[in-house]
Amino acid sequence: MCGIVAYVGHQEAYPLIIKGLKRLEYRGYDSSGVALLNGEGLKVYKKKGKVADLENELKAQELHATIGIGHTRWATHGEPNDRNAHPHYSQNKKLAIIHNGIIENYAVIKQALAKKGHQFNSDTDTEVLVHFIEDLQESVGCGLEEAVRLALQEVVGAYAIVVMDANDPTQLIAARKSSPLVIGIGENEYFFASDATPIIEYTKEVVYLDDNQVAVVKNGALKIVNLANENQIPYVQTLEMELETIEKGGYEHFMLKEIFEQPRSIADSMRGRIQADEGELQLGGLRPYMDKLADAKRILIVGCGTSWHAGLVAEYIFEELARIPVEVEYASEFRYRNPIIKEKDFVIAISQSGETADTLAAIQLAKSKGATIFGVCNVVGSSIARETHAGSYTHAGPEIGVASTKAFTAQVTVLTLMAVSLAKRRGTISEELYRQLLIEIAHIPRKIEQVLKAADRVKEIAAIFTYARNFIYLGRGINFPVALEGALKLKEISYIHAEGYPAAEMKHGPIALIDEDMPVVFIATKDSSYEKIVSNIQEVKARKGRVIAIVTEGDSFIPSLVDFVIEIPKTHEILTPLLATIPLQLLSYYIAVMRGRNVDQPRNLAKSVTVE
Ligand code: AGP
Ligand code: GLU
Repeated sequence: MCGIVAYVGHQEAYPLIIKGLKRLEYRGYDSSGVALLNGEGLKVYKKKGKVADLENELKAQELHATIGIGHTRWATHGEPNDRNAHPHYSQNKKLAIIHNGIIENYAVIKQALAKKGHQFNSDTDTEVLVHFIEDLQESVGCGLEEAVRLALQEVVGAYAIVVMDANDPTQLIAARKSSPLVIGIGENEYFFASDATPIIEYTKEVVYLDDNQVAVVKNGALKIVNLANENQIPYVQTLEMELETIEKGGYEHFMLKEIFEQPRSIADSMRGRIQADEGELQLGGLRPYMDKLADAKRILIVGCGTSWHAGLVAEYIFEELARIPVEVEYASEFRYRNPIIKEKDFVIAISQSGETADTLAAIQLAKSKGATIFGVCNVVGSSIARETHAGSYTHAGPEIGVASTKAFTAQVTVLTLMAVSLAKRRGTISEELYRQLLIEIAHIPRKIEQVLKAADRVKEIAAIFTYARNFIYLGRGINFPVALEGALKLKEISYIHAEGYPAAEMKHGPIALIDEDMPVVFIATKDSSYEKIVSNIQEVKARKGRVIAIVTEGDSFIPSLVDFVIEIPKTHEILTPLLATIPLQLLSYYIAVMRGRNVDQPRNLAKSVTVE
């Protein structure tokens, strides 16, 4: 949600910022803007719509500057229009600000400033903050850096901000609380961005700003202080991310590229962690916490959306193999009740972005009650990765498509590795099953390659159902969350209404929807509930529903009952979700493309949901 890019150095700032904003487009936004400072002063340019609309409007202008700030906005206060787009000026136009987040107490501050004669040109909370900073500069008689700190001490809410000063073309001041901000350190140049994607083509040396820290770049030097003005030692990290991982690499969409990357991304999730031949399995992040996990009375899993689905898959695997009770909760529900959390609870927080506000708040709540929190995140250095006691990265690489695909299978992979290693430790599985599982897990990337070969077949099916108005997805046991994930994927990118259900629940209600116009996707692999799912398919066929079934290779019975089949290779039952999810991702993708949807940036959605 929302993107920040800022630059100070020796390069042309405008093209660099525009390119950076485009790299952040996947996060979701509704307007964009830049502010540049040169001999002619501090100028703001902004526009509703895509970054390309802004670029188009500015194409006739000569925009030279070596310092600038840029923003893509995801409106929270005030509708998405030119006026509310960022950057925002201060009252006397000496300062410009970009902001990601929400200033919760903006109304009180705005009222006080209005009394002093401030006039506002937007409905945003952000504009109030920059007016406030300037007001403090004047009333306290201090410099910009101090005024920023003083203002932030008064502010309630979440923010990543960058402020620019018309009087100092060498200075940028940034700060964060609950919204991500990365600083890239180049040769006599500095970059600020919401994530590393706009930065990595220039430098791999970065500092992730922490909550309540203020970063000041001035006269070519970087300093970091906290809100009390105590110096903070910057922790400079070298990123391993490569440029090609954030580019489309010949695919029409990021989503398709990411679907096809799964054999590799899953192999990356396992890399260095599993040696099937030797019977070795180690998750570095888990090792120091293994005793706690093995002793846990209960495992609580929190997450949102697709990450929550990965949690549901994990619930089956942990309970089946490690015999510890598991509860999976929507982070947003968990945090707003008064959940019973005990010290012996082990909490697993799952998040691709590592920035989801609800998940972050759930972690903080569980932490305050003494639970141990383990993160399963994809984005290195993200807020959730840092807020948890320990964790394992999923290592799926940057996921740019808003609809999560490879991050989901990477989450399921890491959670499976955790469950197997826990089961081994607790002695709840035999040595033979343990060995067999390791070998099966190691074969998953190759089996996914095989599933991907069915892409054209899935495309043909998608062409038949492109204009369906509803879809039902059904699965049992460990494939029930796969059904939920299949339905979510379809809704997100094609805007077709889709529901996921446990197949046996169908007769308690949804069966009323079945007629010849209703496509029903069954995950009907050869596993412990095969006979039961066959009955469910028959119930649908008896009512003329049109069935697409994901079946195990070699099954000849279900194909004789249904309209369309997609085969996946045989694997151990607990690993089925890793294979069965792939055709469902492809089905959603092709249907969305055929309907002409914006697959990578579906309407109303953001890649990382940083509001509660
Ligand atoms: C998935 O396709 C979604 N766009 C969404 O449900 C997502 O999984 C959810 O917002 C959680 O995000 P996170 O994994 O980054 O925390
Ligand atoms: N709250 C601010 C606004 O509505 C910032 C939103 C964002 O994060 O883009 O303008």
